[in-house]
Amino acid sequence: MALVDDCSHEKVLQKENSINIDKERYRLLELYCGIGGMRFALDAARIAYEVVAAIDINPVVNTIYQHNFGSQGHYQKNILSFTTDDIEDMKLDIITMSPPCQPFTRVGLKKDTEDERSKSFLHILKIINELQRKPFYCLLENVQGFENSEARNALIQTMETSGYRYQEFLLTPQDFGIPNSRLRYYLIAKLREERFSFIESQQLLREMPNVNSYRFQCPKNCHKINIDEKKVCSLKQFLEKSDENFEPYLIPDHVLLKYWSVLDIVNENSCNSCCFTKAYHRYAQGTGSVLLSNQPSECFICHVAQCAVGIKVQMYIVVARRT
Ligand SMILES: C[S@@+](CC[C@H](N)C(=O)[O-])C[C@H]1O[C@@H](n2cnc3c(N)ncnc32)[C@H](O)[C@@H]1O
Repeated sequence: MALVDDCSHEKVLQKENSINIDKERYRLLELYCGIGGMRFALDAARIAYEVVAAIDINPVVNTIYQHNFGSQGHYQKNILSFTTDDIEDMKLDIITMSPPCQPFTRVGLKKDTEDERSKSFLHILKIINELQRKPFYCLLENVQGFENSEARNALIQTMETSGYRYQEFLLTPQDFGIPNSRLRYYLIAKLREERFSFIESQQLLREMPNVNSYRFQCPKNCHKINIDEKKVCSLKQFLEKSDENFEPYLIPDHVLLKYWSVLDIVNENSCNSCCFTKAYHRYAQGTGSVLLSNQPSECFICHVAQCAVGIKVQMYIVVARRT
């Protein structure tokens, strides 16, 4: 596998808090990279990194990843094909991973480590155990429910035997002032000689210590206190302004007529939106929110709404381009 230029780990350590430095960057392995959610997060956190390898098996998400970040270091591969030597040779500083969540989701069969889709994750844990030179940092994301799984127990055992200190969380973007509900399990781990900026706990934390320093900085200061008493920004800050023709994304009248009562309808001033799932657009309920825009409409439901609230309305499917 082709690797990008090497860099000194000592320098990286010295520059632990550095941001956007061209030459001294963390060497990153993005496993299960999907469309690049972890990489967007690293960019938002202003971490200086270089992608040694970003790996996913799925050609569709790989096309989107390359659209978002280009092709350098990005490979379509099965994680099961990596050996310990392959990973050792990468001289990594950070591993991020979002392993398949189907073995743990509430609506799935919960086959956990018995599920075929967990095999590659167990393989990676074995590799981390065997590495002579461990990455400084590991970050894992998965669905709520992972915290009670055998896979999670295997992860914790690997962290402990490999010399990491770690913290587990259940967090949602709303905790950080972002208007989306998406409760997820996170594990962050550091090699034991490095401390966290907080005292770690054996308990799963439901909020980030010092959360205010990680909050989304709303440029318009439109934060509102929502029903959970969290200070959350409105959707307005996240809606793309474009000249794109939104006609293809309109919800057809017959769908509106049938499902309007179960759709989660939000507008640009809303401080929440539902978690988007793979079934978005195919099912009306529980798969993501729809946006009520203030553009004119011909549809029946909209006429009713217009009469009711005295404004012209139209509904668009919210297009989720990035995770
Ligand atoms: C939960 S998704 C990751 C989503 C990702 N965080 C993102 O931002 O899009 C899991 C990903 O793992 C990939 N995957 C599953 N098994 C794999 C394997 N054995 N090797 C490589 N990729 C795999 C899937 O194709 C899927 O994109």
